[in-house]
Amino acid sequence: MTEELLSLPVPQVPAGDHGVAWLRANVVRFSNGAEHQRRRALTTKLIENVHATTLDELANALNLSGSLDDIAVIAPCYQPHEPITAEADAAVERLARDRGEETAARIGLLVQAWAATHALAARFRTGDPTPPVPITRRAAEGGVIEVSLEGHPFGHGSHACPGRTLATKIAKNMAFRAMHHQDEPLVLPNAWDYTSAAALHAAGFKAIGTTSLGVAAAHGIPDGMGLAGEQATALAALLRDLPCPVTVDLESGFGQDPAELVAGLDAAGVNLEDGRPHGLATPEEQALIISRVRERAPGVFLNARIDTHWHGIAIEETGERAKRYVDAGADGIFVPGLTEPRDIEKLASLAPLNVLAQQRTPQELGNLGVRRISTGSLLFRAALQHTVATAEAVRDGKTPQALGYAAVQELISRGTRSAAG
Ligand code: HEM
Repeated sequence: MTEELLSLPVPQVPAGDHGVAWLRANVVRFSNGAEHQRRRALTTKLIENVHATTLDELANALNLSGSLDDIAVIAPCYQPHEPITAEADAAVERLARDRGEETAARIGLLVQAWAATHALAARFRTGDPTPPVPITRRAAEGGVIEVSLEGHPFGHGSHACPGRTLATKIAKNMAFRAMHHQDEPLVLPNAWDYTSAAALHAAGFKAIGTTSLGVAAAHGIPDGMGLAGEQATALAALLRDLPCPVTVDLESGFGQDPAELVAGLDAAGVNLEDGRPHGLATPEEQALIISRVRERAPGVFLNARIDTHWHGIAIEETGERAKRYVDAGADGIFVPGLTEPRDIEKLASLAPLNVLAQQRTPQELGNLGVRRISTGSLLFRAALQHTVATAEAVRDGKTPQALGYAAVQELISRGTRSAAG
């Protein structure tokens, strides 16, 4: 039924030669027939090769750098049923360098992106399953009707959203960044394969990390030696379809150029460590790597792991490194082995601090300023232990405990599909 209704024409907008009225009259969104087809081809081409990780980058790619404040003013007046404000007209006039269809398409793309992408990011953050754009409108006999987008968050048919992939990536990045600035710390479980990640997401965890030990060990490769790059990136590619932000543990970059590696991943976040297979990078070396990654993939949350602490080096050096990495562009710092309340408080004052799960509860760690608690290799190790214990139970004639076959199948089909993404 929805699909039939979505194939009706969109409501007609009057001609306009100024401000928002001009924009409405010249964009793909409010046109039908041959005009729609022409504008659709133009609009789609403009974003065809865009790999933006933030709305800012999208604005740059559309030759509208620095325009997002104006876009935010235009967006609430864009739909034909909304009143137009003088501010919105002025904002369109500032951005429209000419009256061409391509100029309208560029502005229209950013306006379409603005509110919907923020709303999608909020869905990732809260887990709210309602579509970010809940309804649209079509022209029917007797007037304009509202059509529910339940089951079609990105629309359907000739007007379906051409920005879906781009929007999903940007919204996951936005949501993941925001998860490090909430009242409660983000509890981030670390998966080692597709199913462990899907199971954790289905259990309600809003974002998923990967564990380098789990990924390497599952393939019979020792951890921390930079040898499991292929396996880590293959897993990152599988997890791209998961309807939640994913952050990938890249050790120290697996001997590849970390900036290129991060840019090619499509992940909402990465962990990069200053530990090396046989020692530590100098702070200068690591800061340079961080600044290159920052420049190449601005939307990706870069968590700088500092390995001095668990090498037994004085906490002051960890603090110095943290400051340097944050100045170079790190979004957060991760200090494995950190448990002393005084040290936690000190480092938490420098940047969003990530610690490993430990004796203190998330609330207690939150009170010390921690923003993210990850499980590292804990879940992988727990799974191994449970696997062996289950086999032993069978051997010893006891009743084993496990998920059912159908539950796992259901998890996989649910894991890759969501109302939001
Ligand atoms: C980078 C971000 C985005 C861009 C560039 C973008 C662009 C567009 C454009 C140009 C259209 C009009 C297509 C046409 O009329 O032929 C459109 C339609 C649509 N978009 Fe997006 N969009 C973005 C994000 C989103 C998000 C996050 C959602 C919600 C999940 C969304 C949902 C929709 C829907 C439902 C329609 C169809 C409306 C209808 O059929 O009436 N968009 N989008």
